[in-house]
Amino acid sequence: MNRTSEFSGFYKLTPKERVQFVREFAGLTNEEVRILQSTGSLRLELADQMIENVIGAFPVPLGIAVNFLINGRDYLIPMAIEEPSVVAAASYAAKMARTKGGFFTSSTDPIMIGQIQTVDVNDPYGAKMAILGAKHEILKKANEQDPLLVSVGGGAKDLDVKVIDANTGPMVITELHVDCRDAMGANAVNTMAEAVAPLVEKITKGRVYLRIISNLATKRLARAWTVVAKEAVGGEAVVDGIVEAYNFAAADPYRAATHNKGALNGIVGVVIATCNDHRAIEAGAHAYAARTGHYKPLTVWEKNKAGDLVGSIELPMAIGIIGGATKVHPVAKVALKILGVKTANELGEVMAAVGLAQNLGALRALAHEGLQRGHMSLHARNVAISAGATGDLVDLIVKRMIEERKIRLDRAKELIEELKKEKT
Ligand code: MEV
Repeated sequence: MNRTSEFSGFYKLTPKERVQFVREFAGLTNEEVRILQSTGSLRLELADQMIENVIGAFPVPLGIAVNFLINGRDYLIPMAIEEPSVVAAASYAAKMARTKGGFFTSSTDPIMIGQIQTVDVNDPYGAKMAILGAKHEILKKANEQDPLLVSVGGGAKDLDVKVIDANTGPMVITELHVDCRDAMGANAVNTMAEAVAPLVEKITKGRVYLRIISNLATKRLARAWTVVAKEAVGGEAVVDGIVEAYNFAAADPYRAATHNKGALNGIVGVVIATCNDHRAIEAGAHAYAARTGHYKPLTVWEKNKAGDLVGSIELPMAIGIIGGATKVHPVAKVALKILGVKTANELGEVMAAVGLAQNLGALRALAHEGLQRGHMSLHARNVAISAGATGDLVDLIVKRMIEERKIRLDRAKELIEELKKEKT
């Protein structure tokens, strides 16, 4: 067995050659190799063009959340996610929200920030003024990099400069504000930041290091809000429970992290289904949640005068519907068609609504009946399948484990044996 991971030129191999190397290294069976290479609708050749060192593809379940009414329009929401209960909870919450018109949304222009870091500047505040004074020249240079983006109304629109106190002394940070239109924009922004860097260096007489997009996309925000009739959530006591759950998150970062994780369950499901960059969304969401210096919930839940529940969400939404993998991955293309969105902003607003719904679904379950009851059967299904149950046996084992309140792999295995014996 080959036990070294050192391999120069691994990238030059074909996926099939690479998998042979991995097979030897890890002692894979023929069946395991077959599993790696059955890539479904993402052809191996296409996967190989998307990232480096490809040996296969990784399928994740794709579900559809139903009942979403957003700005008076019905949407079906494709969600790629491995976690049980998420799609069901989103659908259920969207149904509750429908009673008073569903979700309403808005967003800012799709403006991303590109940062240019300059160090060794003797007069950082003077340099700041000089950069601001050269704004038109810098923006012109930036826009020369992407005439296509400019032709559709996007491009570098503005810039800002700040002086920050780093461990090593002051740094001058120039921030380009780039309207990315329907693209996520990382490529456009990074290219522009790199292109203007020599100009910034000349103006400041300092040294430029980093030239890169910021994932704290505070100028590209999506918002959604909803009013949910108290009867739809289960009465005023449940409304109060949800508001108290929010208050808990607002006062305690340990709870806020989980609260936001719940909202991101929904958002990231759609982000992955459309092959957008979920790391960018998560980094942006958490940094935004902490922008005041205290980590806070991304959603707010209140009770209005009528006793109904009012929910809202606001977060950075750096996603695109052109460029990147969205227009390459065959499933993402179909997911976008199912969503029927016309712009990246519309997609971002839909994602915000899904995040709000997901958070509502979780809080209602937590505040009302506890999460485990709903979770239990899906969890039990996964356990039964992991234990090797197939066909009718799955439902039988799920039922027995729930009755016994023993949802464990060892019990599932015992039950498989018992039930098989009973059958024969
Ligand atoms: C589980 O994936 C998400 C929840 O923990 C979110 C929450 O607690 O609000 C249910």
